Amino acid sequence: MAVAMTGPQFDAPHAAAQVPGEPPAQKVTVHIVAERFRFSPDEIRIRRGATVEFHLESDDTDHGFRILGTDIDRVIPKRGRGAITVVFTPDHAGKYAFECSKICGAGHDFMHGVVVVED
Ligand code: CUA
Repeated sequence: MAVAMTGPQFDAPHAAAQVPGEPPAQKVTVHIVAERFRFSPDEIRIRRGATVEFHLESDDTDHGFRILGTDIDRVIPKRGRGAITVVFTPDHAGKYAFECSKICGAGHDFMHGVVVVED
């Protein structure tokens, strides 16, 4: 699995390798707002082969962003401290659950969502 995490200056071109016979790799940018106790949006659909660049920002306190089954686990800083960028290139179709990985209050366990990768 190709996973990269970068700062806000990430500016790579569409560099994902193109597999012969497959459509060209897509890059998708998704803005997600975290707040007690949800992510908005909490369901993201992409095509297999696409790279997602998440821009995550909090509308209140610190939250976390962990994609299960990957090594992605970042802190989303509290409101006013800016957004973080997480780049994710899923290597197979299916569902990748994500969740808040930083204790943020009584509803912490309810903060989750899913990235659906379609063939
Ligand atoms: Cu948000 Cu824990």
